[in-house]
Amino acid sequence: MTRPPLSPRPDLADLEPYVSPQRPARWRMNTNESPYPPPPGLVDELSEQIAALALNRYPDKDARGLYRALAGYADWAADGLWAANGSNEVLMHLFLAYGGQTRTVLTFEPTYSLHSLIPRVAGTRIRNLWRDEDYVIDLEAALEEIDRSAPDIVVVCSPNNPTGNCEPLSTVRALLGAAPGIVVVDEAYGEFADPDESVRPLLAEHRNLVLVKTFSKAWRLAGARLGYMLADPALVDGMARVRLPYHLSTLTQAVGQLALRYSDETLGMVESITKQRGRLSVELQAMGIKTFPSRANFVLFHTDDADTVFNRLLERDVLVRNYSSNPALRGCLRVTAGLPEETDAFLEAMRWILDES
Ligand SMILES: Cc1ncc(COP(=O)(O)O)c(C=O)c1O
Repeated sequence: MTRPPLSPRPDLADLEPYVSPQRPARWRMNTNESPYPPPPGLVDELSEQIAALALNRYPDKDARGLYRALAGYADWAADGLWAANGSNEVLMHLFLAYGGQTRTVLTFEPTYSLHSLIPRVAGTRIRNLWRDEDYVIDLEAALEEIDRSAPDIVVVCSPNNPTGNCEPLSTVRALLGAAPGIVVVDEAYGEFADPDESVRPLLAEHRNLVLVKTFSKAWRLAGARLGYMLADPALVDGMARVRLPYHLSTLTQAVGQLALRYSDETLGMVESITKQRGRLSVELQAMGIKTFPSRANFVLFHTDDADTVFNRLLERDVLVRNYSSNPALRGCLRVTAGLPEETDAFLEAMRWILDES
């Protein structure tokens, strides 16, 4: 291959692009999406609306209708809201506006890989601390690190992906008290946990808290690409500097508003999904497999030979996520909870694998 006319930025030369390995499989239990399509009423209304949308015109750049609806749903002032194309883009805007070369972010590994990748792309310095053996944040170590490196941004994922555990609110409170800058809490999976595990009530008393949410998981709209954050209006004010004009398409704005109108019906499937999460954990444990307690729509489990189990599951048309190359997740696989028949197929395949070995 000839040399390209220009190489990527030197600080990105050894950056691994994000990949979530995809393979053809009937049972797709690898990316924590919802197996349930959006409610039929939402889809019907959207189809009707599409004909009337002025797609020849640029969208409302401030997405006012969507912001009004979100503000009502989240019970938070519209000027303290920021929406973008998925929570990943919310995080990208946040790091472009508040990260960068003179700033440091603190993350707690193992966690969602984009929590390091996005700051890196935005040129931010990164400090990673390891979680303890139960995958919770070691608060003492975190406070020491905050004291030592004064990170401008601390990122907490709760429930944490891929481990599934929620961070105690006392930990988040302590981080908020010690951090010199902001603490970002990513609650992408918050709807699958109990409401009292959410940091939402802390927002009113902590100006340095940023809560990030997504429509991609419990809201059954991963394909629509919509996420948002709740924060102090002064912080939200800085975000407009880095967004591209008209970043939220007319279609995205329409879907978001409809989703909020159909919230009860949409989120009605959460209970059924958490039931499958329970089944996955209990049945895996009954097979003698270690599982990690989950508050999300997935279960992390440990096997002696994760690569073999991953491949044998694929032979049975079941695709899960393999984390075994991560030193903190050796032997670990993650399976998404969804339809009862997906659980059946996965458990049946696991029993077959164990019988064979
Ligand atoms: C913790 C966490 N945050 C954010 C996201 C990304 O969500 P979105 O589809 O809103 O960009 C994911 C997706 O897997 C996730 O696991």
